Amino acid sequence: MRELVCVKDFEDYAYKVLPRNALDYYRSGAGREETLKENRRAFSRYKLRPRCLRDVSKRDLSTTVMGQKVSIPVGISPTAMQRMAHPEGECANVRAAQAMGTVFILSTIATSSVEEVAEAAPQCTKWFQLYIYKDRELTKSLVRRVEKAGFKALALTVDTPIFGLRLADMRNKFQLPSHLKLANFIGSKASVTNEKGKLTGSAINDLGSLFDATLDWRDIAWLKSITKLPIVLKGILTAEDAIIAADVGIAGILVSNHGARQVDGTSSTIEALDEISKAVGDRVEIYLDGGVTDGTDIFKALALGAKMVFVGRPALWGLAYGGEEGVKKVLGILKTEFDYTLALTGCASIGDIKRNMVVHESYYSR
Ligand code: FNR
Repeated sequence: MRELVCVKDFEDYAYKVLPRNALDYYRSGAGREETLKENRRAFSRYKLRPRCLRDVSKRDLSTTVMGQKVSIPVGISPTAMQRMAHPEGECANVRAAQAMGTVFILSTIATSSVEEVAEAAPQCTKWFQLYIYKDRELTKSLVRRVEKAGFKALALTVDTPIFGLRLADMRNKFQLPSHLKLANFIGSKASVTNEKGKLTGSAINDLGSLFDATLDWRDIAWLKSITKLPIVLKGILTAEDAIIAADVGIAGILVSNHGARQVDGTSSTIEALDEISKAVGDRVEIYLDGGVTDGTDIFKALALGAKMVFVGRPALWGLAYGGEEGVKKVLGILKTEFDYTLALTGCASIGDIKRNMVVHESYYSR
């Protein structure tokens, strides 16, 4: 087999080996998938303005997020049900993040439990992706487990009062394969799973019936009142919401459109980042995910105000290729590409990346 040298190579490989049900679930976006394409395309509309004749012989790729040091400014976004990609699923993924010295965010809808993931990679900086459920006791008990297991932050997903319409999953009547379970719900009183974590209904959308579509900013105050963990709001796409988030004392904002799986027709995340970082960049830490597949994408996001980026699907493709080793390879490729981008734009460290080193393409037609 030819050497896989970029994220796209891993994606192509995963397309060949994953069963249709799983591949479509991982790959697809909502509706006509316009935002899915935009997440990638929009990066191309931003251009680098490299500087030269600056000593870049030694380069430092590290940064800090929430006060924790990370070796590279790219971590792993929460994606559901990773054991469809590899038998060790989330546990393999978190070990890869640990080996690469970066952050791993565990999905609530995981096929490995909070405790299994904590045990798999005790040294990794782990965050937990939370939904607030109609059943606040269920929500609270998840938060307690996460705290006990040593996770460092909560990423509260705010773009999912209901699940988006994903046509491929509707056509496939997507279901979690019967040998897998929703590990975080085992033993809980969640009405859509039995005590073994198996969905009792036929479709994954049944899980969405647990979500509380009445959520508003008062529920953020409630969440803050029950935990000392820093809270990152995942799924903010406008300056207006970013300002409210900063006003209510949120620690971080993850600019995200859920991998284009919620409402089709939003802007790409890299375009939304610009207005959000201008509005609140000096008050909260800002991160981005969506469409990051290359080291230059990481550079562009950092120049436009992100402290760090996250990848969802690229890690799934790495898992499909070879579990922990596969994800390490994917992260290693992104690291090398980012390192080259730093060197070739005249930056010795992340602190050297300045906003005017990335411009929208319209800059050149003025
Ligand atoms: C997701 N995403 C997601 N987000 C979340 O908050 N909770 C979840 O359980 C999931 N599950 C999930 C499954 C799959 C298959 C995908 C592709 C995505 C969204 C995810 O955290 C992230 O925002 C995107 O994946 C980022 O885009 P890229 O890197 O996949 O382009």
